[in-house]
This record gives sequence, structure tokens and C-alpha cells, in this order.
Amino acid sequence: MMNPSNGRRDHAAETILATRVGASLIGRAIYAYPCVDSTMDLAHALAQEGASEGALVVAQRQGRGRGRLGRAWSSPEGGLYCSVILRPRRPAGDIPQLSLVAGLSAAEAIRNVTCLSPSIRWPNDLLLRGHKVGGILTEAKVSDTFPASIGVRHFSKRERCLTPSVVVGIGINVTTDPAELPDGSTSLAAEHAPHVTCEDVLVGLCRRFSAWYDVWTMRGFGPIREALRAWIDCFGHPVHITAGSERLEGTASDVDERGRLLVRLDSGLMRPFDVGDVTLLR
Ligand code: BTN
Repeated sequence: MMNPSNGRRDHAAETILATRVGASLIGRAIYAYPCVDSTMDLAHALAQEGASEGALVVAQRQGRGRGRLGRAWSSPEGGLYCSVILRPRRPAGDIPQLSLVAGLSAAEAIRNVTCLSPSIRWPNDLLLRGHKVGGILTEAKVSDTFPASIGVRHFSKRERCLTPSVVVGIGINVTTDPAELPDGSTSLAAEHAPHVTCEDVLVGLCRRFSAWYDVWTMRGFGPIREALRAWIDCFGHPVHITAGSERLEGTASDVDERGRLLVRLDSGLMRPFDVGDVTLLR
């Protein structure tokens, strides 16, 4: 199952991680590498080959880390770069909620491991003191011709009928020197958590993500929505919305029962918006 272009697996790291992760669903199989192009590509390949739900690909560096909207994800040494394979037994239209499930889990893991208090910038960013410390990328692959980076949006009838494998990628700047990161980024170490390691954060993440994924699978998005509200930092802030030909302005107010951002428009009307429609302003 090894992709030669991505170098050798680090079996020693896999054994240590497996012992620490224990019986959690996420991390039940671990593929650890010193360096890969992108953990997303490896995870998709493993999913196609039948890797089990919860399998995790982790790397110390990425040559071509990718973020949302086709952006590059800077991946020097010191960051946690991982992708989780999931096979959700929920309607495909619910799958974008996994970004929020992962964001909540990552925020809790960071707090548990470092005592720092991150916030979530809906839908995918983890922030510390307003600087980006991590991000989530969710990709579904329902067939060879449909690998899609997904936001909270409507799914076509065809998409709703197919059961995809989903890869959730999580990047967290742990001990990374902020000088090596894009402007506006920070790392856990730079925010007064100097002793934390990528392994500590990963173990905490596997535990919290397993727990919240279980809740989401059994009970849906409701409990996630309740827990998320305490972490989301954009409520009360102005947003720009482009929905089709409409250009609107309003104030972010809440997340709805499907994970969409609820915006109170300047007209007074409350409306839900999908991720592609909204630009958060600072
Ligand atoms: C974003 O904020 O745009 C999402 C960033 C996601 C980065 C992670 S790092 C691990 C995984 N592999 C990638 O190439 N991307 C994701």
C-alpha cells in the first residue's frame, strides 16, 4: 500500500502512535511518513484500496500540502499534517458537516493538550488570538471522476445517492516557526505552549474526533451544533455574501441545523448561507 514517490513509512512512529491512540476509531490503522506530497492523496489512494474507516495518514512534512479553494498549505517541519479516511453512514448531503465535526475536535484537542483556547472561524479555520493555527480540508470521492473539495452546500440528486469515502485533512502548526508560515499564521509553540509535540496533539485529536464522530453518526449534527457555538468567533461580526447574482451584507449570527451560517441581513431578515457564499470580514 506504499506509494514509492512518497518515501518509506516510519514503522517505529506508527507503533508508538498506535500504543498511545489505543482503541479509538480514528487511528485504528496508522500510516506514518517522514515526508509526502500530500496526506490527502495517500489517504484517497488507501481508501480506494479498501482501507478501513478511521485509517490515518500522518506526515512530518508535505511537499505539496493543499488547503481549501486550491490554495497551497505550507507544510514545514513542526506541523501536524494528517488525513483521516471515513465511510460515513449518513446521507451525502450531511458530509460537509464533517469539517465542523473535525474543527470542534481539533479545537478541543488543542485546549486539552496545551491549555490554550483556540476559536473556530466558520467553517474550517482554527485561530489563536486571531491568527491562523490550523485548518481543515474535507474531500469526498464518490467515483473516479468526482473528487470534490466540499463546503456546506446543496448536493445534486446523483451525489446524494452515492456513498462516498471521505478524507478529512487536518493541518495544525505545532512547533513551526511562524517565520516559515504565511502572514497572519501562528503556531502552538509561538502562543506559549513550548513543550507540546505533534504526537501529543495527534493523540488528543484522535480521541476527540473519534468521540464526536460517534456522536454525529448516532445522533446527527444537533449535539455538534450545540458544542460548536462556544468555539465560533464570528458571531456578531459583519459578513459579505454573494449568492448567485445577489450581493448582500449582514451580521453572522449562528450555525443552523445543517451547519450553514445564519446571517442577519441588513434588511433584518435571517437567512442561512453555504460556505461558498460568505466572506467573513475583519
Ligand atoms: C485550509 O485551511 O485551507 C485547510 C488546510 C488543510 C491542510 C491539511 S494538512 C494535512 C492535509 N494534507 C493536505 O495536503 N492538506 C490537509
